[in-house]
Amino acid sequence: MTSARGKALTGRLHVPGDKSISHRSLILGALAVGRTRISGLLEGEDVVNTAHAMVALGARVERLGGGRWQVDGVGVGGFAAPAAALDFGNSGTGCRLVMGAVAGCPVTAIFDGDASLRKRPMQRVLDPLTRMGASIKAVGEGGRLPLTLQGAREPVPIVFEPPVASAQLKSAVLLAGLSAPGETTVVEAEATRDHTERMLRHFGAEVREEPLGAHGRRITLVGEPELAGVEVRVPADPSSAAFPLVAALIAPGSDVVVEGVMTNALRTGLFATLVEMGARLDFLERRDDGGEEIADIRARASALKGIEVPAARAPSMIDEYPILAVAAAFAEGTTVMHGLKELRVKESDRLAATADLLRVNGVAVEIVGDDLIVHGKGRAAGGGLVATHMDHRLAMSALVMGLGAENPVRVDDTAFIATSFPGFADLMRGLGADLS
Ligand code: S3P
Repeated sequence: MTSARGKALTGRLHVPGDKSISHRSLILGALAVGRTRISGLLEGEDVVNTAHAMVALGARVERLGGGRWQVDGVGVGGFAAPAAALDFGNSGTGCRLVMGAVAGCPVTAIFDGDASLRKRPMQRVLDPLTRMGASIKAVGEGGRLPLTLQGAREPVPIVFEPPVASAQLKSAVLLAGLSAPGETTVVEAEATRDHTERMLRHFGAEVREEPLGAHGRRITLVGEPELAGVEVRVPADPSSAAFPLVAALIAPGSDVVVEGVMTNALRTGLFATLVEMGARLDFLERRDDGGEEIADIRARASALKGIEVPAARAPSMIDEYPILAVAAAFAEGTTVMHGLKELRVKESDRLAATADLLRVNGVAVEIVGDDLIVHGKGRAAGGGLVATHMDHRLAMSALVMGLGAENPVRVDDTAFIATSFPGFADLMRGLGADLS
């Protein structure tokens, strides 16, 4: 696909439901007793794979249409052994969260995924899950997929200090802890997205959170709760909203509103950063929806300036660095993004791939240690062919870049956009974007 600078982007739009909340609503719905009704579910491939896994593990999952789904759960500890391997496609979140859920049930399951997921580290999840009583029957080299996990007959609660800031890792342990007697505790040096904790409470579990140090949290789950089916409304995904919003900032004359975007503070580091860079972003109609704060976010074309982005902000914008790097290319001056080690193990090596994305489009960029440094000139030449490496966020970031660059930007593969943002190209075209 090619994107080119054209007219200003204007209009109001809705982006699909939040991916993190969508996965969790299906998994907790499957572990609850009774019926969970979900509206606004992200119907992207990643989430659909999680829905298939829940069916394979014994839950009833029905798509009612229009983003509405219902799940009839089996109860905590009630998963059945799946007849075939569980295929999570491109999704680290689906895979790791379900590993945690399976680890707390006395069943054996094979976990697999696509070529990208098969490269990603799983040992970090397997370590705490084996401490909780699960066992690994087979595993790829270096703790990679495909792997066979046997859940614990009698799961043990643990106190776990994740070696990396990862909501996936935290969530896997909490989900396994559901069927353990007593309290399972996760001690986070850096707080990560808290959707699992919020949703566990929504389904009836007792979860306590205490602040820890400057940026951390201590999270305690009381095991063996009775989870009961509930209604879940999934708000719009801030990580998807980031693409049209940054497009509006860099395409001259633009004025765009994305409606009903979740503004949970553990997810909105990108917006805080853009405001520091001088972005004209307005948060309108702030309101509460289904336990999460949401707002309509307006973005207008802006003169951006380079800034330093502290490492401590990374967990709240971990998926947003490729699109922030694009914004930084259009800023005047240097932007330094600190502490991006985890980007190397996302859907692709996102640190290297983001640098390449900018470089092939004439932007000066360096990687120094785990920092990404973009030397913005207020403009980008464009004209590059971007390799997306099976990574949806690289594909969308590159296409956004083309909307502000002097020459069209091409991407080699847009198929993976469907994992998180089905309908992306049409929504962007609806704002006036030239994508062909
Ligand atoms: C997610 C957590 C993040 C993020 C991913 C979704 C989640 O991963 O990159 O897209 O839903 O928990 P880590 O927590 O492993 O950084």
